[in-house]
Amino acid sequence: MPTVTIDTDALYQRVDSVIPRIEWATMEDDIAAIWRLKEERNAVILAHNYQTPEIFHGVADIVGDSLALAREAERADADVIVLAGVHFMAETAKLLNPEKTVLVPDLRAGCSLAESITAADVRQLKADNPGVPVVTYVNTSAAVKAESDICCTSGNAKAVIESLGTDRVIMIPDEHLAANIARDCGVEVITWPGRCEVHDRFTAADIEQVRRDHEGVLVMAHPECPPDVVAASDMAGSTAQMLAHVAQQRPKRVALITECSMSDNIAAEIRDVEMIRPCNLCPHMKRNSLANIRAALEGMQHEVRIDPEVADRARTAVDRMLAIA
Ligand code: 13P
Ligand code: SF4
Repeated sequence: MPTVTIDTDALYQRVDSVIPRIEWATMEDDIAAIWRLKEERNAVILAHNYQTPEIFHGVADIVGDSLALAREAERADADVIVLAGVHFMAETAKLLNPEKTVLVPDLRAGCSLAESITAADVRQLKADNPGVPVVTYVNTSAAVKAESDICCTSGNAKAVIESLGTDRVIMIPDEHLAANIARDCGVEVITWPGRCEVHDRFTAADIEQVRRDHEGVLVMAHPECPPDVVAASDMAGSTAQMLAHVAQQRPKRVALITECSMSDNIAAEIRDVEMIRPCNLCPHMKRNSLANIRAALEGMQHEVRIDPEVADRARTAVDRMLAIA
């Protein structure tokens, strides 16, 4: 059996500005084991931008926003995919790789948006609004995607809606994302009262306070935030769009109105930008740890399975999204 020896000191240099050495010492055993197990299982770890720095910079092979993780899952050259994110992301990876084993470290890593709507709710919306296309945020179950015409992420929602060439859409389940995108696209949107429990907590007053406390700060908000929060920000974008903007523009100081690990992961990598952290934690994203990623690879647990008939219909909606540049 080939064995990988991983230089954890070299890995530590990636995160030494955000993880104290004494804390890293408690992580090294799991990190070395995970690298060995990835080799043994021919596995890759896909990690969302909200994963903690020791996962994001220490063991992940591919990192990104929901759109990038879906695209990369499709290309993954491995037998096993461990999705360090939340359940809907792992389901999307499985839809695109029905023949591969997709594992999640903790089956309880859900999402308040995905939990807000069922397939029966979508069928009712369609019955109430015949002929109106259904655009479904990827933060949903495969069963909900299966009832939809096309999926979108926060990174491509505008392009997806514009591709439909219609002035009326059903956009579910995030009412804030729908309102933010409706304003950008000038279309009428029928939505659903789902909210992200993390982004819904930010207020426009939080942003005013950040601006008062940190002169010249660039404020970027995730479009799952309420519309008045997005309006009070300098720009809005998906997690990957925020990261790309900071990497390219190198603003002096930035406040990311989103989940906390985003700022930590950027701060580890881009050290000449001051990150202000008025953040909220996502309890679902935070269910992943080095210990349960290691356990997932050791025990080949917890496998994501989707009913094949549901998967076929859900895949069509995801594929239509991925076909849009
Ligand atoms: P992104 O697609 O922007 O990474 O967002 C995913 C998510 O869950 C945000 O809360
Ligand atoms: Fe869901 Fe919000 Fe957590 Fe993203 S941050 S996974 S939208 S609860």
